[in-house]
Amino acid sequence: MKEKSFTTKAVHAGRYTPARGVVPPIYQTATYAFETAREMQDIFEGKSEGFVYSRVGNPTQKVFEEKMAVLEGGESAKAFASGMGAINAAVLSIVKSGDHVISDRTIYGSTYDLFTEIFPRLGINVSMIDLSKTDELEENLQDNTKLIFCETPTNPTMKLVDIKKISQYHPTTMVDNTYMTPYLQNPLELGSDVVVHSATKYICGHCDTLGGVIISDAEFIERTHQLLKDFGAAMSPFNAWLLLRGIKTLTLRMDRHTANAEKVAEFLEEHPSIAKVYYPGLKDHPQHALAKSQMRGFGGMIAFE
Ligand SMILES: Cc1ncc(COP(=O)(O)O)c(C=O)c1O
Repeated sequence: MKEKSFTTKAVHAGRYTPARGVVPPIYQTATYAFETAREMQDIFEGKSEGFVYSRVGNPTQKVFEEKMAVLEGGESAKAFASGMGAINAAVLSIVKSGDHVISDRTIYGSTYDLFTEIFPRLGINVSMIDLSKTDELEENLQDNTKLIFCETPTNPTMKLVDIKKISQYHPTTMVDNTYMTPYLQNPLELGSDVVVHSATKYICGHCDTLGGVIISDAEFIERTHQLLKDFGAAMSPFNAWLLLRGIKTLTLRMDRHTANAEKVAEFLEEHPSIAKVYYPGLKDHPQHALAKSQMRGFGGMIAFE
């Protein structure tokens, strides 16, 4: 059978509709009931499928995870209360005290603070560099480098990082794909090991909920589970439901965002008061060729001076 389109998967992937409802229910419950203590124990120990406590798993959250794994082309996904909850758990599932991380220096402010203030306090050293320059990456690689992290395009200068290139090196690579969404870019297909999102942005699309998600192979996602369980940044069932509703229109929204941004970027480029426009869709953007090779559209974000 023909592979389903992204738009079809965005609507239909991930299903949990016990009463045949088209829309999954909001399982607004913290705890679950069992016939016997043994039944609960088996789920706790992973011997049977089910839910025991919504900090560590909930059916509505699970539908969201399944959909995100399908859309990013990963084996599995783990939902968190926010993008920062997801990034924090993903990084700490890889590094420990004494390890080294390389990150692009142009990243979202709170991720920057995590790398430059919080992680160094835990004995994790981070080199903040320009990952679009291969020589800088090679100069900073160390025997204990466990992670290479980037956003592409970066906020706010719209610089790109070549995902295929940074994924050739030995450390785990993690890409924050918030700006592109899985509709416009799939870092796992380009060789990256882990993808993180602030689902609060385009995935939600309605400014009414926070959310975060990690997508990777099943073994890595299993490792992030302990960080979810013990740090407790769990996504609420209602937020998972709102995100599921938002994703259904992701492709329509991203197409319109991209079309609007292209028009605005072209307008600004011609404007006499504007010195510089940063938009990878413009033909004179220094990384336009890379943009065309790793993104399926240029997205809705623009910067200008
Ligand atoms: C690229 C990027 N990553 C991560 C985050 C953090 O996400 P959240 O606000 O959902 O914690 C943001 C938030 O603006 C962001 O823009």
